[in-house]
Amino acid sequence: IEIHFVAPGGATQVVAAEPGLSVMEAARRADVAGILAECGGACSCATCHVHVAPDWLARVGGPGTLEQDMLDFAENVGGASRLACQIPVTEALDGLVLHLPG
Ligand code: FES
Repeated sequence: IEIHFVAPGGATQVVAAEPGLSVMEAARRADVAGILAECGGACSCATCHVHVAPDWLARVGGPGTLEQDMLDFAENVGGASRLACQIPVTEALDGLVLHLPG
């Protein structure tokens, strides 16, 4: 499963991710810059904030209640914002494009 992380400048890093991981864990393993994940995936830091590409929004879905509360503390939050630690890697997300908020 490939996940594409697009940096604010447009540079894209493609990460191979296994199902069962979260998108954040896959990003950390590949050392994606901009996914700090300070809380380790507990949905309490918002340093794994990403913007889901428009084409993928329906498949990824919106944030849960706790996640939305946490997103309120993040910067550059928009309608496509998610916390990467709350997105499970699944076969359906092969090719997923995520933008890093910078
Ligand atoms: Fe902290 Fe996602 S890693 S909220």
